[in-house]
Parts: sequence; structure tokens; C-alpha cells
Amino acid sequence: MSNYHIKNLEEYYQVYRKSVRDPESFWAEIAEEHFVWRKPWDKVLEWNFSTPEVKWFEGAQLNITENCIDRHLATKGDKTAIIFEPNDPSEKAQHISYKELHEKVCAFANVLKDQGVKKGDRVCIYLPMIPELATSILACARIGAIHTVVFAGFSATALSTRINDCECNMVITSDGSFRGTKTIDLKGIVDEALESTPTIKSVLVVKRTKADINMKSVRDHWLQPLLDKADKDCPIEIMDAEDPLFILYTSGSTGKPKGMMHTTAGYMVYTAYTFKNVFQYKNGDVYWCTADIGWVTGHSYIVYGPLANGATTILFEGVPNHPDFGRFWDIIEKHKVNQFYTAPTAIRALAKEKLDYVENHDLSSLKVLGTVGEPINEEAWHWYNDNVGKKMSPIVDTWWQTETGGIMISPIPYTTPTIPTYATLPLPGVQPALMDEHGKEIKGNQVDGRLCIKFPWPGMARTIWGDHKRYKETYFSTYENKYFTGDGALRDTVGYYRITGRVDDVIIVSGHNLGTAPIEDAINEHPAVAESAIVGFPHDVKGNALYGYVILKETGESRLHENLRKEINQIITEHIGPIAKLDKIQFTVGLPKTRSGKIMRRILRKIAHKETDNLGDISTLLNPEVVQEIIDNAL
Ligand code: WTA
Repeated sequence: MSNYHIKNLEEYYQVYRKSVRDPESFWAEIAEEHFVWRKPWDKVLEWNFSTPEVKWFEGAQLNITENCIDRHLATKGDKTAIIFEPNDPSEKAQHISYKELHEKVCAFANVLKDQGVKKGDRVCIYLPMIPELATSILACARIGAIHTVVFAGFSATALSTRINDCECNMVITSDGSFRGTKTIDLKGIVDEALESTPTIKSVLVVKRTKADINMKSVRDHWLQPLLDKADKDCPIEIMDAEDPLFILYTSGSTGKPKGMMHTTAGYMVYTAYTFKNVFQYKNGDVYWCTADIGWVTGHSYIVYGPLANGATTILFEGVPNHPDFGRFWDIIEKHKVNQFYTAPTAIRALAKEKLDYVENHDLSSLKVLGTVGEPINEEAWHWYNDNVGKKMSPIVDTWWQTETGGIMISPIPYTTPTIPTYATLPLPGVQPALMDEHGKEIKGNQVDGRLCIKFPWPGMARTIWGDHKRYKETYFSTYENKYFTGDGALRDTVGYYRITGRVDDVIIVSGHNLGTAPIEDAINEHPAVAESAIVGFPHDVKGNALYGYVILKETGESRLHENLRKEINQIITEHIGPIAKLDKIQFTVGLPKTRSGKIMRRILRKIAHKETDNLGDISTLLNPEVVQEIIDNAL
């Protein structure tokens, strides 16, 4: 039996039990046998959830790119590491071997060094899904710079907020991006963002769309000529196990985005281990995750996890509906994809289209199907299982978070019997707990509560960049000595977990986490708006959509409400990005508030869900009369 690669249910239970009984030797064995270290650790784990402080493999030295690239060169140098599938299907796919990846990453790393980037510096990456997104990440890791990738759908304001929060000194971007039939002026967005980012010294620009863009002298440089001149070999920077690897921003229920900081060794071990088991990757398989590398799923399961296992990973630039709704299936057939990992929102969107799109393609290469990012509804699960997997490929419904670094609760394919909508069992090393409203752990099965994790795992984020206090308050203060996920879950009779959704003010729209507060802040900047409140409501493709209740400063506002709705969405697009636009905007004279002035979102949520029969006791509200008026005008 190997701890590293679980092959059946009995092994799973054995390995799981061991991981709980003796987590330190469990993870130490995996770390020792499957990775290259420049110096062994002094201590496997040190932790304290009240400060909170967690250290894995302290004293060890390594470089994650040596593990993801260099060590494969001897045996897999010519194996394809990355398949790049462009937006336009008539553009040729690129197959980048491990040897070529090594050269590309080294050259890029040397360019970064020539530009003055040093170990510990923060580099912001704002790129579309092109090979340079992967190579820039790896180039940073090679020289010990901390990458912070910002999803290229975020606006200039969102980009500058992130750059300023972690004080990046460089941005890597492209002239533009292709998405379906659209071309987006990424460099224009960067230029706008950089008007308010004093720390940025240089910008590297990848040529992709060949759009005519502005290059600011001294600051901006085309990447390719620098790569051409750079040495194709670059020694690794020796990193300590707990040196930061990257910062990735995620929405919180309040205030500015949280820069989740991940460190080197634990994250590497955890993403590699979970990739191997959850996808049952075997040498020669072709694996495809459709996420954008701008989100954690892309970091862990397009780049680091697959490459640490010497896998072949697909990087897809485009969208599921271009040139038509058969694009995903076309790519699976073309590259003979074995493991396919996507989001429920994509499945729901594709399930609405003619089945011919799926049936006209040979999908027989598929062995494992995965989902991530939000609960998958039963209907979508069955559609995926019946039509894509032809009931032959197990579905792994993987629950995890930006904060957890890697998959936490998931079936192991061909091992864990699956049930639609259940993420099933915790992976080895993961110790979940369900908590009741009094802060007590609920033991036993057939119970539901708030999902916590009660023991550290190597992939967990170590802090919020620059704000350890917020890290402690957000994740470690609700329940004593436990990491609180923000999700609700139930545990069934056999111990399977089903995630029921967020219990805080984060709303997941099309798999993207959106905090209500930043959206409300954006809306409130509109000169006509006095106050606003956002809630989620069910949407058949996006999972949730956003419903905004808006109070105008002057009730006799002369402009048409339709125009105001457009302007409000425009402001949201400028401050955050189009992903945060509202589907419904209701203008109202008031919002239900408690006597202490807190908005009663529970009531607004019920109205948006059209569940107004049972609103509970509203007599304690400051302004109960407003509730009926909101119900009468609900959209
Ligand atoms: C939700 C994405 C149900 C959950 C990797 C979590 C899920 C949030 C699932 C994290 C799943 C993720 N079933 N809900 N399989 N996977 N979630 O940080 O609410 O973008 O807290 O990380 O997505 O989203 P994030």
C-alpha cells in the first residue's frame, strides 16, 4: 500500500485513519518519497490555531519549479507538459514539452532578474489564458518572486487595488486577449490601473492580439525580444519551506479583497498529492481543467499539481460557446482528454443546448469527470454523467477553497461510490467538523451544521497578506481552535458530506465568489444612490444571480429607472468587473433594518427567492412597513 496513490476503498480508509492518527509521519512519508529537497526539514508540523500559526516542513529547502520541471527532464524531457489550445480552433495547438518548458521558464526568469525582480518581490500577472501565463508564474517561483495573478476579467480599479495591496513592482500583461469573437484591450486596462499604483516600475507585455497599443517608454517592454536575448538556463533560487509562493485575492463578505498567501513546500506537497488521487492521473494521460489560472483552481490544478506529477495539462484560451457550443467536446476528442475538470455553471449552460453538440464527438477517452466551485444540482450531475461520461466515468465533486490551496472533500474515482450532489469523503489529512449555532461540534451522522476543519493540512493559506488580524478574525475566531470555511454542510448516514452553500455574505455567481459589500460600495458611488443591499437568488445557469435593492436619494428622480439600472451596472463593471453585474435591480424607498440599524438581509433574500409566505417575525424591525412595499414591487 502506498500513501501517495490510493487505489481502492479499503486503502482509502486505511490511509485516512493513518493520516488522522499520525498526520506528521503521514505527510512526511509522502514528502520524502515524492519530491526533491535541497535540505530536509527539521520539523514536519508546528501549529497553533489560536494565533493562528501553521508551519509545515520547517527548515527544509527546495524550489517548486525544480519539482515541477527539472526533475522530469531525465525521464520525461520530450513528454508534453502543456498543450495550448487557442481561442480560434483554426490556430494550431501548441505542444510544449518539459524540455521546452524548462527553457521558456528559465529565459523568463532571467528576464525578470534583468528587470531587477528579486526574491520576495511581488509580481502582478494580468494575462489571458496563454502559455506565458503559466511560464510567468513558474518564472517567478524559480527566482523566489511572489506572484499574484489577477483574473483578466477584473476591471482597472480592481487591478490597481490588488497591486497596491501587496505593493507589486512589476506587471506582466499582454497587448490584448481573445475571448470568443471578442478582443479585449488588456493593456488599456493596465494603463488605467497604473495611474494609481506608485510601486510599479516596469511592465512586460506579451504580444498576442497584435493590437495597436500604447507603450510607455522606460516603463513598458515587449517580452519577446527580451526572451530572445535571455539565457535559456537559470539556476533555481533555494527557498525555505515557508517562504511565500503566491498571493491570490478572494472576495470577503466585507471590505477589500483578501490576499490569501500560500507558501512553498506545503502547497506543493498538497496540490501534487490531491491531483494524483482525485484524478487518478497515470503517465500518458491527458488532463484538462477548464478554469482560468486567475482563480485558485487554475493555480493548483492546471499549473502546480499536474506539473509536479509530470502530467500533460491543457491550457485553453477560449470559451465554451465559440465557435459553437460543441467546443469543449471538440477539444476532448481532439486531444483525447482522459480527465476533465469543469464548473457546474458550465455544465448547466451546455446542458441547455442541443445534445447533438455532445453526441457528434467521440468522448471515449474520458476516464474521470470533475466539478468544482459551487454545489452541483442533481439535474446537472445526471446530465454530465449520462451524456458526457456515458455513465462510465466517475464524477468527482470536489469541495475546496482559495484558502485551502487544494481539494479537501472529494470522491476518489473508481474507489468512492458517488451520490449526486455529495462531495462525499474528506481526503487523507483532512479532518472536517460540523458546528452548531452555539459553537459546539456536532458529532455523529445525519446532521448538518457549519463546516470547519479542525487540524492543519499542508496546503492551507498561512495568512492574509498584510493583515494577519483579519485572517485570524475571519477564519479562526468564530469557532475556537478550528478553521471556519464559511460554508454549511450536512453529513449523511454513512459520513458523506454535502456542501449546502455559503453561510456568510459571499455569493457564488457562475462559480465566482462575490462579496456583497464591495458591490454595494460600488453602487453607492452613483450620485443618485443613497443606499443599497445585494442578495443572491437562484438562477438556472449561474447557480446564483445578484438582486440589488437600491434606495435613491431623491424619490422623485426624473431619469428613467431603466437608464439608472444601466448606469449602476456600468459602475459595478468599472469597480469590479462584468462578473459582478446585477440581474435584477429594484428601487425601493427603504430597506428593512433592525433597531441597531443593521440591514435584515434574511428578509431581502426571502423576497428575492419569492418565498414571502414565511418571513418570520418582522415586528421587531425599525421599519416593518417597508417590507410589504418591497414585496409589492418585487421583480
Ligand atoms: C464553493 C474554488 C459546493 C464553496 C476552489 C467554497 C463548492 C467556495 C464546491 C470557494 C463544491 C467550491 N460544492 N460548493 N464542490 N467547491 N465550492 O475560493 O462555497 O473560488 O467555500 O475556490 O466555493 O470558492 P473559491
